Amino acid sequence: MDTIITNIKGIYPFKAGSQGALRGEEMRNVKPIENGFISIADGKILGLGNMSEMNLSELPRDTEIVDARGQFALPCFVDSHTHVVFAEPRHTEFVDRIKGLTYEEIAKRGGGILNSAKKLQAASEDQLYIDAMQRLEELMRLGTGAIEVKSGYGLTVESELKMLRVIKRLKEDSPMVIKSTFLGAHALPPEYKDNRKGYIDLIINEMLPVIKEEGLADYIDAFCEDGYFTPEETELLIKEGAKSGLKAKVHVNQFNSIGGVKTCVDNKAVSVDHLEVLTDQDLELLKSGNTMPVALPSCSFFLSIPYTPARKIIDSGLPLTLATDYNPGSTPSGNMQFVTSLASIKMKMLPEEAFAASTINGAFAMEVENEVGSIEPGKRANIMLTQPMDSLDYFPYNFGNTNLDKVFINGALIA
Ligand code: NIG
Ligand code: FE
Repeated sequence: MDTIITNIKGIYPFKAGSQGALRGEEMRNVKPIENGFISIADGKILGLGNMSEMNLSELPRDTEIVDARGQFALPCFVDSHTHVVFAEPRHTEFVDRIKGLTYEEIAKRGGGILNSAKKLQAASEDQLYIDAMQRLEELMRLGTGAIEVKSGYGLTVESELKMLRVIKRLKEDSPMVIKSTFLGAHALPPEYKDNRKGYIDLIINEMLPVIKEEGLADYIDAFCEDGYFTPEETELLIKEGAKSGLKAKVHVNQFNSIGGVKTCVDNKAVSVDHLEVLTDQDLELLKSGNTMPVALPSCSFFLSIPYTPARKIIDSGLPLTLATDYNPGSTPSGNMQFVTSLASIKMKMLPEEAFAASTINGAFAMEVENEVGSIEPGKRANIMLTQPMDSLDYFPYNFGNTNLDKVFINGALIA
């Protein structure tokens, strides 16, 4: 059924900027349409504007009217970095960290990603699918309308493909827009401890051809970090991925700056994600290229590591995207509402900047900007209506509490 949302206190469309993603000052110079309406037909946004321009007689007679007095309308969140397919949570490691071990120490003794891989290898494809779908349903209720999902807890040919097939099924069955990223190079499996090249060869010769053949991924990723994969290995994987039609979205600079940003900018990666550690040279490289920086503040919060220097990035005129990093080890939360709060509280991002980074810029970070990320005619009707509030500033301020009244995904009311 078609819908019209009326009497909206303010609509924040978050349209793209002149050069694509919103960058620098553009991120905060966004103005709402006051006292507005949004009409929805066939799951898409038909029109929007001021109430004085609304003409109800033009709409089909069975159009549902939703009154949004005192509420703001925002595009649904676009979460461009997650690991939402996993077998089990890792709260035992969480307690180990409370007792004093670091994330890196836990990883070194076989916990971390390798722990998740062991569990995922033993899980059935159907169970992984059911669990991940349930997580996606919860995320939609929290306002997320599009999401990127990575493999990377398989680490064998069979299990990496199993993960990617789960993501493919999620794409087919979920109303969300989903992109799939192949992260075979997430960690070196123990059986390849002394044979790094052997594992990279396995990725290139055994995994990528099947991924290409079955259309199992949109992007390639690697964990470019001390103790994981080097910039040279990352570069090789980006190049091999490109041969299979995969662009790159890469984990870089989570703990150390080891040259991953340069590798990614040089190889025209779509995004570089994490960037908790960012040198001045890295910033200059980002300014020279077209690669989207992506910050994951819930990961910083959960691991008590530095936050990505958002002010430095935005004030140098760059765009910035925010995503959750939802995964069982470093970020057991896919709540983008909490991400906007952390961005404001910990990274000094203004509320408008936090939403620009979580909506339209996220859409650019997963190349779905023509479909989602803003409230514009022709796009999917992925719209959040806030609780009544006097200003958008209240939303990130009101952290940990419910900010949403309704969520529409493809025009359907889901919460
Ligand atoms: O983005 N940093 C690498 N990968 C994930 C964490 C994976 C895990 O601990 O399971 C991340 O934080
Ligand atoms: Fe991640």
